[in-house]
Amino acid sequence: MRIIDLQEWKSLVRHHHSFKQTHLKDLFAADPQRAQKFSLEAAGLYIDFSKNLLTSQTLSLLLNLARAVELPKEMKRMFAGEKINQTENRAVLHTALRNCSDDPVDFEGKNVMPQVKQVLAQMEHFCEQLTQGQWRGYTGKRIRNIVNIGIGGSDLGPVMVYEGLKSYSNREITLRFVSNLDGSHFFEQVRDLKPEETLFIIASKSFTTQETMTNAQTAKDWLLEHLNSPEAVKQHFVAVSTNLEKVREFGILSENMFPFWDWVGGRYSVTSAIGLPLMISLGIKNFHRLRAGFHEMDQHFQTSPLEKNLPVILGLIGIWYNNFWGTETHAVFPYSQSLHHFPAYLQQLDMESNGKGVDRDGELVSYQTGPIIWGEVGTTGQHAFYQLIHQGKKLIPCDFIGFARPLHEMGDHHPKLMANFFAQQKALAFGKSVQELQAEGVKDALLPFKSFLGNRPSTCILAEQLTPEILGSLIALYEHKVFVQGILWNIFSFDQWGVELGKQLATEILSELQGPESADQRHDSST
Ligand code: F6P
Repeated sequence: MRIIDLQEWKSLVRHHHSFKQTHLKDLFAADPQRAQKFSLEAAGLYIDFSKNLLTSQTLSLLLNLARAVELPKEMKRMFAGEKINQTENRAVLHTALRNCSDDPVDFEGKNVMPQVKQVLAQMEHFCEQLTQGQWRGYTGKRIRNIVNIGIGGSDLGPVMVYEGLKSYSNREITLRFVSNLDGSHFFEQVRDLKPEETLFIIASKSFTTQETMTNAQTAKDWLLEHLNSPEAVKQHFVAVSTNLEKVREFGILSENMFPFWDWVGGRYSVTSAIGLPLMISLGIKNFHRLRAGFHEMDQHFQTSPLEKNLPVILGLIGIWYNNFWGTETHAVFPYSQSLHHFPAYLQQLDMESNGKGVDRDGELVSYQTGPIIWGEVGTTGQHAFYQLIHQGKKLIPCDFIGFARPLHEMGDHHPKLMANFFAQQKALAFGKSVQELQAEGVKDALLPFKSFLGNRPSTCILAEQLTPEILGSLIALYEHKVFVQGILWNIFSFDQWGVELGKQLATEILSELQGPESADQRHDSST
């Protein structure tokens, strides 16, 4: 049965109809305990969702819907290593990568934890060799620069976490990332680096991705141009991949490949060997702190009842807006410069997972699925697009992410930053009425322009400080939220067939762009 035909869905449609004129102002006035009632804490995160357009009844109807689609059973299937990524015939076990307990994780009757630990040990050994200067470049110089070449999940996670936790990084090692096919990216990232002190990590699950393989070849040419011997490749290139054959073909020794497995999706891979540049830069201990944060949220998700389960609650609130209020987008505003790549990371996580239009039975879906994810750090965004969120015609649910303590005490920067963090959420929820403006003596002609209707929803996500554990927990929160929504929408969240057509056409067009003849006849009048 389609989800929209369920009684639980229809009850929500009716509930929305009777609720939609309610103002947050009235909800707060009617219940002085509202914030306490609608907030939860787990894995170092305090989440206040009281400034959302909902009541206890809304939540209980949403929870009924989650039960109707057997969400708990679906969660168990993921953690149990079932092949829930059906169209690729794969299990989804990224939670094993950060399993810090002694519990086994079975896949096809075999515990995967020994392999996970073996690769972690291989990564640790490599990091020690690099940082202690035992691993050297071809000319005997120490490696001082690491360049990670990858794209999508083989880039966005490491980039985001590196930027997020830069304060914890080893500043003696330069870490750069190259992802784009645009040659300027490679050019700019290596222009001030010495090849004899540079190590490339070629990160690609498939080791066939056009962007990554093109940049890897350019890196090889760049290195060989300076070092003049094909032997140099062995000491200046390592790989992170599932494809040993292709790695060897490229000239990387098999012992210098850090493997992972097809049960790790690219966008869920940051704690696999894909995190190698992070382990090098942040240090072994901090990498494990990051894993521990992920694990804490995984455990919370796996064991908490639905009504106290943060990813479940956030997932359901998202469904409420997306499917009953008709919102198209979801915004994420970290009030932390370190998290400036977080929205871009979430875009792949959420939109590549839930941007689907066919259900798990292969039928076209007749309801909305994954939202458009976007965002920017605060307070930067306030001076650019917040105008539209406050006074525009679109309803945009927002997540505000903030920290009680800064990473760097600098005068009064932090209290000012956090004052803005709280102020924006308050302004969105409660607005400013014509009466309030009149009391301030605002001229009549300006009243319509200066008033704020309010009633714009936001969720407040607070943590003590941006630590490796907290970042891990935050990422896992969003990962599981995406999972929950995928189950409710009855779509496959772990494949990404929608990226294939463009790749295929680009291959055809490339041969035409590089070929001798005009391709006019083969395409439509525009292409
Ligand atoms: O094109 C999409 C995609 O397959 C992503 O899912 C993936 O993270 C990215 O490309 C990179 O793939 P790979 O790690 O195999 O190079």
